[in-house]
Amino acid sequence: MPAFRKLLPTERDQYLAHLLRLDRTDRYARFTGTISDDVIRQHVAGLDWGRTILVGAFIQGELRGAVELCTDRLLWPNQAELGISVEKGLQGRKVGTTLIRRTMTIAANRSIQQVHMICLADNVRMRALSRKHGGRIELEGGEFSVTFDLPRPNQFSLALEALEDGAGAFNTVLDRFQGAALDRAA
Ligand SMILES: CC(C)(COP(=O)(O)OP(=O)(O)OC[C@H]1O[C@@H](n2cnc3c(N)ncnc32)[C@H](O)[C@@H]1OP(=O)(O)O)[C@@H](O)C(=O)NCCC(=O)NCCS
Repeated sequence: MPAFRKLLPTERDQYLAHLLRLDRTDRYARFTGTISDDVIRQHVAGLDWGRTILVGAFIQGELRGAVELCTDRLLWPNQAELGISVEKGLQGRKVGTTLIRRTMTIAANRSIQQVHMICLADNVRMRALSRKHGGRIELEGGEFSVTFDLPRPNQFSLALEALEDGAGAFNTVLDRFQGAALDRAA
C-alpha cells in the first residue's frame, strides 16, 4: 500500500523522475500529446509552488503516482486544472482513485468550485475514474474534457485533510522503514 501525501517544493526532483519514468503510452496520455524529456524537465522546473499542489503516492520512498493541481486565483478564480499519472506497475490498484479523491478534498478546502481535466478520448481508465468521482464528461474530437463540481468546504472536509496530512507523514516513515528493511534483507 503506497503512502499518500502532499509533496514539498524540495521534492521537485522526485516528481521529475516519476514523469520521466512513464512509458511512451502513459506519457502521451498524461500530456495529451508527444513531449520530449526536455519539455518535461522545463515543465517541472517551471512549477509555481504558490499555485500548484502536488499529491503523491510513494512506495519505499519513491514517487510512483502523482496529481498536479494547478490554480490561478487572479486569472481563473475558484477553478483548477488537474493532471494525474500512475506508473504502470501500480495501475489498476486504486492508486488513481485515492489520489483523485484526496485532491478533490484539498481543492474544495481552498474554495475551488470546479476542477477541469483534458484526456484522450480512448483513455478508458480515466473515463471510469471521472465517472466514479461525479465528473461531467464532454467529448471534443479526439479528447474529452471532464469537469468536477466541488462542494463548499466544511468542518468534515477540513478535518479530513488534516487527518490525511498526519496519516501521510506517519505512513511515509513506515514506508521508508519498510524500504530500508527490504534493502537490508536483499
Ligand atoms: C489513468 C490513471 C491515472 C488511472 O490510475 P489507476 O491507479 O490505474 O486507476 P484505478 O486503479 O484507481 O482505477 C482505474 C479504473 O479504470 C477501470 N478500468 C481499468 N481498465 C479498464 C478498461 N479496459 N475498461 C474500462 N475500465 C477500466 C477500473 O475498473 C477502475 O475503475 P473502478 O475503480 O470503477 O473499478 C493511470 O492509468 C495513468 O496514469 N495513466 C497514464 C496517464 C493518464 O492517462 N493520465 C490522465 C490524463 S491527465
